[in-house]
Amino acid sequence: MIKFLTDLSDGEYFGKIALVRVDFNVSIINGNIGEDYRIRMSIPTIDYLIKRKCKVILISHLGRPKDKSLKYSLFPVSVRLSEILKTNIKFVNDCIGLDVKKSVDNLNPSEILLLENLRFHKEEELNDPEFSKQLASLADIYINDAFSTSHRKHSSTYGAATLFDTKLGGFNLKKEIDYMTMIKSNPIRPFLVVIGGVKIKDKIGAMENLLPKADKILIGGAAAYTFLKAKGKKIGNSPIDVEHLEWAKRSLDRYNDKIVLPIDHLVSKSPDSDSAIICKDDIPDGMFGYDIGSETIQNYSNQIGSNKNGSIFWNGPMGFFEKDIFANGTINIAKSMALAYWRGAKTLIGGGDTLAAMKKSGVSESEVSHVSTGGGATLRYLAGDKMPGLIILE
Ligand code: 3PG
Repeated sequence: MIKFLTDLSDGEYFGKIALVRVDFNVSIINGNIGEDYRIRMSIPTIDYLIKRKCKVILISHLGRPKDKSLKYSLFPVSVRLSEILKTNIKFVNDCIGLDVKKSVDNLNPSEILLLENLRFHKEEELNDPEFSKQLASLADIYINDAFSTSHRKHSSTYGAATLFDTKLGGFNLKKEIDYMTMIKSNPIRPFLVVIGGVKIKDKIGAMENLLPKADKILIGGAAAYTFLKAKGKKIGNSPIDVEHLEWAKRSLDRYNDKIVLPIDHLVSKSPDSDSAIICKDDIPDGMFGYDIGSETIQNYSNQIGSNKNGSIFWNGPMGFFEKDIFANGTINIAKSMALAYWRGAKTLIGGGDTLAAMKKSGVSESEVSHVSTGGGATLRYLAGDKMPGLIILE
């Protein structure tokens, strides 16, 4: 069983040093942070620790750097976190070594130190024992508050954790696990799943697990064309996942009564085109589907918005929503999710694209029961995969 922050007495935090694995993997363009949801989700854990006079060391990766390029530095995150918490977050430009040791030694109770990007050392992703040892040597207590990175067996999520007697899950990690477990094991009925996005491959495991439990699974985005093709429909030049066509066929045979597919589409000749037409049923050759059509929007929105006593999980946009003319389907799904929430449904959104789509639709995080910080991790957890970062806490 995982122990969480409240399993320790307040006194056990006093003056101790906590190494907190957070996921500050946010998008930073020219030093400016875009969406900072992942940073804000770490506040409850940080607050809890500093109130108990703990010294807090935050560790995270950012992106997938090949070298120590400044564009992958976590420094801008320390600035944003200082603004959010209205306190000075100390920053050191490495995550191991003498300078780090010195910064930790100078840390007073209730102070916060953010270390530089863990992935500036290739040993992090290799789960290197020596690197893990150096990280672990910095602190007395290990805390994982990075659900979204817990599917990785890296030093900061696994190797370092093995070296602590006291390892705990943070509040964000707990919230993620609680919601995901509800959806995975015992969803409140009626249970609707809404799947979009491009790649089916990453979602198969989660869909396999959710299909038997779901009352309906509404499919949009490029994922829908693979299913439509498997059904023998004409999909024009819309992209499909050829490798998983057979899987789509099998799922349709088995769950024909649950899988709901678009009945019309917004199609165009190219993603750059500024003109698009609604196409009912078959899509002609030379055309691509870039959004669900108006009748499908109506149908999906009604099903979502009226599911006031149940639960809904949404992963993946309904089309190429980044472009305004193809965003209508996604915007309507986001707004219907908010409507269902206000009417009493438990709603859960997962995946970076889905959060961006929700924001573009003007739906705020407070209009969703839970927005998962995880992309790959959420799907892997729902698929029932073992998550090294969680196993080590058990
Ligand atoms: C994510 O954004 O899904 C997590 O931060 C994990 O990042 P990774 O896929 O680069 O390991």
